[in-house]
Parts: sequence; structure tokens; C-alpha cells
Amino acid sequence: MKKILIIGSKGMLGQELVNVFGNDEDCKVVAWDREDIDIADSAQIRVKVGEIKPDVIINAAAYNAVDKCEEDKKEYEIAEIINGKSPGYLAEISKEIGAVFVHYSTDYVFGKEMPPIPEPAGCTGSCASCGLHNDYIPEIGFDEQAKPAPVSKYGETKLMGEKSVQEKGEKYYIIRTSKIFGKPGVTEGAKKSFFDVMLAVGKKAEAGGGEVKAVDEETSCFTYAPDLARKTREIIEAKKEFGIYHVVNSDPCTWYEAVLELYGQAGIKAKVVPVSGDEFPRPAMRPFFSVLLNTKLNSLRNWKNALEEYLNNKK
Ligand SMILES: NC(=O)c1ccc[n+]([C@@H]2O[C@H](COP(=O)([O-])OP(=O)(O)OC[C@H]3O[C@@H](n4cnc5c(N)ncnc54)[C@H](OP(=O)(O)O)[C@@H]3O)[C@@H](O)[C@H]2O)c1
Repeated sequence: MKKILIIGSKGMLGQELVNVFGNDEDCKVVAWDREDIDIADSAQIRVKVGEIKPDVIINAAAYNAVDKCEEDKKEYEIAEIINGKSPGYLAEISKEIGAVFVHYSTDYVFGKEMPPIPEPAGCTGSCASCGLHNDYIPEIGFDEQAKPAPVSKYGETKLMGEKSVQEKGEKYYIIRTSKIFGKPGVTEGAKKSFFDVMLAVGKKAEAGGGEVKAVDEETSCFTYAPDLARKTREIIEAKKEFGIYHVVNSDPCTWYEAVLELYGQAGIKAKVVPVSGDEFPRPAMRPFFSVLLNTKLNSLRNWKNALEEYLNNKK
């Protein structure tokens, strides 16, 4: 039986990882959150993880206050440790005890540059009238090899974390994901996901006859936490080659497009107005486009199907 240590087990993703591995009779889950371990403390990690010697360590803990750490130096220092250094501490102890290490990163490690637009297969680039471009819809996004270039301090700290895992670790998976949604975490400070926030906004607007403004930018992919947790188990069980993976639900969209779909599914009649990001000034810049391309795994389902399941489960 494999011992799986899940850190950040009360977070949005962490609780789904506990469900997925907890339902597997070949796995014994040890679920830790902030009250069990402080991942900022490398000495504590060494003692506590060394005591239980798991076969797999999954780190779903992170600092996720994107705007706070952009403008507050103290907050940035916390983000730098939790997102930047702690993954390295965990990767290091994993290597020492021979455990597989799983860490999550983000599409926010990209954004400074747009990805290249791929030519159709067979195109030599010498002739625009080769016919290969007819009906060709390129898949645009950042694949696992793309060079990261973040636009925010949060993104910088997550990139630091990737580098510290690569530097200190051995048998590791870095799974980049984006816009996670699902049941909120169960800690005091847990944030609701975008869809839960927008459901409340929509119901209020519908009752008051108002409209809802949504940013028609920041194209990226939604990711349903249970789908990501199941895919994580699949990667480990299939003993995939160690390295970087992109795991997101398919069909990229903007926030505006997501709200239209949400209200359609939930039967909310509020009017939704597309606006530019400038209408909601935030301290941290967001990538205008940060679609993650998965070139190594079977794709996850469309986020619209996952959203349907999420809304049905809430009833
Ligand atoms: N959410 C997204 O849209 C998104 C997008 C891209 C990537 N990701 C990445 O996906 C992973 C999971 O994200 P999530 O949204 O599930 O996170 P989450 O809901 O914020 O959960 C993180 C958990 O870690 C705990 N934690 C924070 N600092 C800790 C520390 N020093 N020691 C021990 N535990 C600590 C948190 O406790 P408290 O609540 O008490 O702080 C919380 O229970 C993270 O690596 C995140 O960066 C998330």
C-alpha cells in the first residue's frame, strides 16, 4: 500500500485530492494543512515528513493572493517563501527519502509575450497560397516547453517555485493549471471560485434589474478541481515521465464568455455586458492570454460539461 501525503488538504484542490486518493484502497492518505505543518519552515518539514516517510508527496498548498503580494512588501515576502522556496524544501526531502513529488504551478508564469501562431503541418512558410492554410484553425497557447515570462509578482514567485523544484528535486511532476473551480476550501480564509462569486452577483442583478459587467479578456482555461485531482492520480499511477505537465479543462474562454455560459446553465436572466480589463483596475497585471496547451496527456473534458456537473452537485 502506498502512503500519500497531501499538503494543503483543506484547500479547493487539496480536498479533492484527499477524496480521490482516499477512495483508492491501495492508498493510505495522510492529509495535512496549516495546523499540521508550516511549509515555510524547512526544519519542520524535515522532521515531520521524515517521520512518516511517504511514497508520494503532493503539495497543494500555496499563497494565492495575487493582488496583495503585488503591492505589499511583507505579503510579497510571504509569497516568495510559500510559492518560491517551500516547493524546493519539499522537493529536497522527497529526493532524500526516495518519494515522488507533485507540485502545482500556474498559467500566470506566462503573459509577457504572446505564444507563436503555429503553421499547418507541411507548410514550408515560403508560399501563402499553398492551400494548407484553408480551413486551418491553429491551436494557440503555451506548451510545456514554452519559456515562462510572468507579468506579476505572484507569477514570479510561482516561477521561482518551479525552478526550486527542478533544482532540488529528482522524481517530480510540476503540474501547471489555471482558473480552478469547485467547492471552496474549508479553511477560514478560503476563497470562493469565480463561478460561485458570479452566481451571487447574477442573482442580485436579476432581482434588482441591474446588469453584470464581465471582462472580455484574459483568455485561458478553466479547471475543475475534481478533474485535476483525478488526472494527478492518473499521472502518478501511469508512472509518466517526470517533468512539467499542463492540466486544464478544454476550450479556452474569457471571463465574459464564462459568465454567459454560467448564467445560461443556471437560468439567470441578468444582462451581461463585456468590458475591458481597465474597467476593473487591480494592483497586479493579469496575462491578456495564457492558454496552456497540453501535448503530453489525454485531454480533460470541456469545462462547460464540468461546470454542469458542479452546478448539479450543488443542488
Ligand atoms: N485557484 C486557482 O485558480 C489556481 C490557478 C492556478 C494554479 N493554482 C495552484 O493550484 C494549487 C492549489 O490551489 P488552490 O486554489 O486549491 O489553493 P487554496 O484553496 O488556497 O488552498 C491552499 C491550502 O494551503 C494552505 N496553506 C497556505 N499556506 C500554508 C503553509 N504555510 N503551510 C501549510 N499550509 C498552507 C491554505 O491554508 P489557508 O487557507 O489557511 O491559507 C489552504 O488550505 C496551488 O499551487 C495554486 O497556486 C491555483
